[in-house]
Amino acid sequence: MLIKIPRGWERPDSDATSEPLFLSRRNLVKGLGAGSIMAAISPLIAGCDESPAIVTRKPPEPDPSAPLYPVERNLRYTLDRPITSERLVTTYNNYYEFGSSKSIWDKAQALPLRPWTLKLDGMVETPIEIGIDDLLQKMPLDERLYRHRCVEAWSMDVPWSGFPLKALVDFAKPLSSARYLTFRSFENKDVAPGQKSSWYPWPYTEGLTIEEATNELAYIATGAYGKPLPKQNGTPLRLTLPWKYGFKSSKGIVHIEFTDKRPVTFWEAIQSREYGFWANVNPEVSHPRWSQATERVLGMDERVPTRLYNGYAEFVADLYSGMDTKRLFI
Ligand code: MTE
Repeated sequence: MLIKIPRGWERPDSDATSEPLFLSRRNLVKGLGAGSIMAAISPLIAGCDESPAIVTRKPPEPDPSAPLYPVERNLRYTLDRPITSERLVTTYNNYYEFGSSKSIWDKAQALPLRPWTLKLDGMVETPIEIGIDDLLQKMPLDERLYRHRCVEAWSMDVPWSGFPLKALVDFAKPLSSARYLTFRSFENKDVAPGQKSSWYPWPYTEGLTIEEATNELAYIATGAYGKPLPKQNGTPLRLTLPWKYGFKSSKGIVHIEFTDKRPVTFWEAIQSREYGFWANVNPEVSHPRWSQATERVLGMDERVPTRLYNGYAEFVADLYSGMDTKRLFI
């Protein structure tokens, strides 16, 4: 009989503390007196089941953008493994505004679809505020099959619909002095219970360099599976950067600011030793809590090796030439 003794980092998924649970525990320790910690942790553990929810769906609120979909598939962006089931992609989510478990899809239904306005400002010729339906009319929609890799070492393969971020940058007309884009997500404590937790630096904030934002892969998803994007996946505007870890993919974006200062991102503000600005996928650079060598593709039985830049090196490696630092990866 072969007895395999796992090395330090070789732990089964079931053994690993999920990011939400890790953060919840740490924040509880920060936020509560010692006597109440155990009482508070027990319901959290019970509520942190990562298995996909078995759900009875309410009829979804009609999305005014529905007639736009499906859109034509762009065959330049394809996959070498099967598309993940829609059910998994829409029931296994990270969206801390709605809670720190993976089963937030039902809570996210409280997010109103309209009105939704995007603000584009900072170092631009003229600040713009535009309603989502007007914006969608102006953007060149296509469908793309992209890999989506979370730093928690799980991944999905998704048929997103949306438009290249470059089209939005061109529409915003940034000044030549602008070097970065800061993305801010909605803030609405009335519908997003996670935003009542004041230890998180709301709103969810992310950033890219102008060069990254205008790379052909950088994409704003507005739909998936030939339909408008579900609320839990980030409707109506979700950043999609398939060569970076999933936490860079801001959901529910309401504001993009052009700036000459590198923004501090949501996760950087929480724990800069674990989450950097660049967050490019690299199997050789481990996160302090998760080896990045392999990934669990949701819906598949076996782990598969992770690839540099999540398999997109031919599109993006040039962006980082000469920037030889580990901080490029996580
Ligand atoms: N965007 C917002 N606004 N809030 C979040 O908590 N989580 C991020 C990212 N975008 C997050 C977010 C993380 S950690 C991941 S892995 C992906 O969304 C998950 O996207 P998915 O639920 O569609 O798979």
